[in-house]
Amino acid sequence: MRTRKVENMGKYTGQMLEEIYTQDQIEKKVDELAKQISKDYVGKVPILIGVLNGSIFFLADLAKRLEIECELDFIKVASYHSGTQSSGTVRLLKDISCIVTDRDVIIVEDIIDSGLTARFLKHRILENNPSSVAFASLLLKPECLKVKFEAEYVGFEVPDRFLVGYGLDLDQKFRNLPSIWAFPVEMNL
Ligand code: IMP
Ligand code: MG
Repeated sequence: MRTRKVENMGKYTGQMLEEIYTQDQIEKKVDELAKQISKDYVGKVPILIGVLNGSIFFLADLAKRLEIECELDFIKVASYHSGTQSSGTVRLLKDISCIVTDRDVIIVEDIIDSGLTARFLKHRILENNPSSVAFASLLLKPECLKVKFEAEYVGFEVPDRFLVGYGLDLDQKFRNLPSIWAFPVEMNL
């Protein structure tokens, strides 16, 4: 397993990250999800709504692999203030620009942790009477769910560890790592 040392990040400096999903594993999984979505949406033109900022790489890779037509839009919410703990509340920072009424919508997220963000987003889209809403998340932490939430498309079920890379950040850093890395188990800040 590959490891890397955190540098220039205050109290996190010196921590060892472990690579838990390689670029190759992510690519294969995104390909599988894209095939499934292409099959499920034959003859439809869904709007993929990426949840900023974490979903950017997943959304881009997924959309490029779809064999159907789609539209892209974005929404931005805040659920984590800083560090690795969720604040428990979800705030809307940037709304979608498209009209979702009578459209098929797929919300695309990096990770479902407590499920609060996912639930908030799904309700928000449903208020505008879409034809359908599905949720695609690359990662899911089943042990951390605080509300009942079932995503239609999930890439990997992951353990309760803080993850970074491929869009996931810690205080806005590490998003650009091409694969997914985990902080040590004991890091519960
Ligand atoms: P939830 O509302 O608790 O499900 O949190 C969802 C959001 O928290 C995700 O969109 C991520 O931005 C962030 N998040 C949750 N777990 C992690 C993690 O392990 N690494 C980085 N961000 C995370
Ligand atoms: Mg996010």
